[in-house]
Amino acid sequence: MATSRRPSKARASPPEPARINSPPAREVRNTGAHGWGLHNRLSRFLRPDGRTVMLAVDHGYFLGPTSRLEVPRRAVTPLLPYIDSLMCTRGVLRSSVPPESTTPVVLRVSGGPSVVGPTLADEHITTAMKDALRLNCSGVGMSIFVGTAHESQTIRNLGDLVTEGEEAGMPVLAITAVGKELEKRDARYLGLCTRIAAEIGAHVVKTYYCEGFDKVVEGCMAPIVVAGGPKLPEKEALELTYNSVTAGAAGVDMGRNIWQSEHPVAMVQAVRAIVHDDHDVKEAWQLYGELSRD
Ligand code: 5RP
Repeated sequence: MATSRRPSKARASPPEPARINSPPAREVRNTGAHGWGLHNRLSRFLRPDGRTVMLAVDHGYFLGPTSRLEVPRRAVTPLLPYIDSLMCTRGVLRSSVPPESTTPVVLRVSGGPSVVGPTLADEHITTAMKDALRLNCSGVGMSIFVGTAHESQTIRNLGDLVTEGEEAGMPVLAITAVGKELEKRDARYLGLCTRIAAEIGAHVVKTYYCEGFDKVVEGCMAPIVVAGGPKLPEKEALELTYNSVTAGAAGVDMGRNIWQSEHPVAMVQAVRAIVHDDHDVKEAWQLYGELSRD
């Protein structure tokens, strides 16, 4: 998907109010056929430009108190003004986000295994659709583990969740999880996973960036958001963001590379500047430097 250049801005633009009647400037795939409620919820976090900056803070559901996310509220609060949605569990939401918040929430609804168990793949749906509705969420997210002993179970979880989501008007984000096997992240494998997720009916698919990522995007009928993965130097995380959106991703659902940054508020704005304001890596890196000094 081509991106048009716009004049660079000194600061990343904060989220604008939803303009659901405005057609997106960029193509937003696979949103029209699901009814107004689902489209409306999706439009809360997939912005009118067809892009999104999602903040992932769901790591504790299998990792426990991850570094810099020990007290989720401390990580989340300063970042809320700069994101298009927060991806978290209901435990983090209820304890760490004020109910007055207007930031859209994509609720992590799968889980089960922990990092000290035999496999991370043996996931189930742990939070019901009615809870996501009661919590006024804009989407639900769950993982599939393709190529593991639990692939069929997790893909069935996705199918069931999409069926419930379409009944409720709730978009479903499918995450092509790799567990501890980070080396699996290549275009052939991720192309397979993302295509399966789209075929089963996911409304948005979250995956990893890789060499040949444009082919992954091409083969997936749903919009793709990219996870950041383990912490990288900030400039490399900006490169990952830039390469992802120029290859056709709708944006990021990034966690550690934002809230484990030395300057999380500067980092989220630099990422936002790439995703929404067409900054290149040099411009975003410069912005990060300026904002880090503020
Ligand atoms: C794990 C997840 C995480 O939310 C995801 O990995 C995003 O966080 P990070 O950018 O830290 O990788 O979905 O399966």
